Amino acid sequence: MKRTMLFIAAAATSASACAGLAAAEPSSGETWSGDGRVEFRECPKCDKRIRIDLGANKAYVNLSRLEGAGREQMAARAARLLDAAKIPPAADVKIRPLMGWSSWNTFGVDISEELILETARAMATNGLKDAGYTYVNIDDGFFWGHGEDGILRFHPKRFPNGMKPVVDGIHALGLKAGIYSDAGADTCGSMWGGSGKDGKDTGGIGGGLYGHDAADCKLHFNDLGFDFIKVDYCGGKRLKLDEKTRYTEIADAIKATGRTDVRLNLCRWAFPGTWAADIAESWRTTGDIRANWTSVKKLIAENLYLSAYAKPGHYNDMDMLEAGQYSGSMKTVFGGHGDTGLSETEETTHFGMWCMMSSPLLIGCDVRTMPATTKALVTNPYLLAVNQNDLGCQAYVAQRDGETYVLVKDADTRFGASRYVALYNASDEAREIEVRSDALDLGGTVDAFDLVEMADVGCFTGHVFVKLAPHASKFYRFDASRRIERKVYEAECAYLADYQELRDALKAGTAFPDRREDASGGMIVRNLGNRATNDLAWREVKIDAEGEYVLSIDCCSPDEREFFLTIDEGEPRRLAVKGGERISTVEEAVRLSPGMHTVRLANASASMPDIDKLTIRRE
Ligand code: GLA
Repeated sequence: MKRTMLFIAAAATSASACAGLAAAEPSSGETWSGDGRVEFRECPKCDKRIRIDLGANKAYVNLSRLEGAGREQMAARAARLLDAAKIPPAADVKIRPLMGWSSWNTFGVDISEELILETARAMATNGLKDAGYTYVNIDDGFFWGHGEDGILRFHPKRFPNGMKPVVDGIHALGLKAGIYSDAGADTCGSMWGGSGKDGKDTGGIGGGLYGHDAADCKLHFNDLGFDFIKVDYCGGKRLKLDEKTRYTEIADAIKATGRTDVRLNLCRWAFPGTWAADIAESWRTTGDIRANWTSVKKLIAENLYLSAYAKPGHYNDMDMLEAGQYSGSMKTVFGGHGDTGLSETEETTHFGMWCMMSSPLLIGCDVRTMPATTKALVTNPYLLAVNQNDLGCQAYVAQRDGETYVLVKDADTRFGASRYVALYNASDEAREIEVRSDALDLGGTVDAFDLVEMADVGCFTGHVFVKLAPHASKFYRFDASRRIERKVYEAECAYLADYQELRDALKAGTAFPDRREDASGGMIVRNLGNRATNDLAWREVKIDAEGEYVLSIDCCSPDEREFFLTIDEGEPRRLAVKGGERISTVEEAVRLSPGMHTVRLANASASMPDIDKLTIRRE
């Protein structure tokens, strides 16, 4: 078998061969200017390699093995790559994942007017604002309870002038201002602390929204002019409030201010339910991030199978970034308590995966002193374009082998031949990943552009092997000859209408993805059925040509069970599976028209089998 590897120096290749490329820098030599943006250089030591120089906005293209039409092609590719780094202005500010900074990870409750305004000034001048980091979010620590008049008061030492000069100062820099509260009466900081010095933050007692929705929303959004609010749940939990009811009340209070541009983040530390997308722009899916690899790995794992719930303007929030917190030189609120820091490799995995998974990007380090390497990473326009686009897709797991994963999402257009791909090694060992283009729905030759290196790194057909160090990831833009029809749809990537992580799913009777080593992708969906909404749906089954197809559903059930297959609004078709330990396949022949379909599996009145995957075969 021919082994194609990226990043490994290839032996002599012909101009048309598609193989690995040398990682040499372009050397100086003949220079020829194309359209004024793209510069072409001879590079005898490296093959068709393109390196983008962002400072000068140039693309360096190696032409040593190219002639005639090859040059033209390469010019077009370089121009396309440069375009991929341009993030067009959003039609609506609420469509894309939020980008900015939040005070919590580094400063905890030890915040002040001075700190917030210094941070905003740093962001406005050090390139972060230009890269799109526009929200300056004040987290816990500013409270001083509510007064007898019911008006929220601000911490007299930390914000002696109130919040008006802070919000105005942020706005004057062309940035947006974010604030924080709790769905209940007391804030997290008042219950758990959040400072190296002060212990519990008593100012947060009675500082939450509970009983003050209308007045606090008027104060924040009409009087002070905040543009964002994160609503935490420590106080809500203490009062045993119902999440959906309570957060809907808060969303309604925001609406009642008349402001339509305010963005709401729910912070309930687990996927709350599909209702969250009806009321909020983002919702925290995990507990608090810490500046160490174990935490980053855990948060990624907890978000791997949530892609179905993200859509334009509504995103899973993986928590604020710990980029910039390097081992040995950290400054975090929980410094002495397990924040051991990240290596540069881990930081790249952390930021790149947050981009791939369309999480809000809230920098959590001290931006006044952030390391140059961190700034370069978090302002990398190729990575930001992965996160900041109007498609609103979160990457899903296309391949898994033990602790290595391949994730993919569309670039530029839905169902186009260009896709963003992450190779992620969660393990503590070096690993080699075999990437299969068909698993990514890509056909023909695939050109690979490394988004972190900002370099064209080669091309392959069929499959390619990539080596990854422990905890390392590679992030690419793959430009293929064509997009091919998808054959396999994994259950763990499907939309489960009743999915939630707030209550024990077995007790609540809600379906959930679970590990099963002999299942495709190592995952299966359990606990389906018994209610019409406790179903599983693949909502984007795209068919290219009209025809007869066979839908095969791999499933497993301890006893004989039935379920119903529905395509779009069609008649339900009854399917049954015999009981047994092993995963078995049930098939149904269907006629499908070209276009997008929803394939739904449900049983409103009885338990369903566990579902592994759907395979679509043309007859
Ligand atoms: C909770 C949240 C954190 C932070 C703190 C503030 O722990 O999850 O993100 O806001 O509260 O007290």
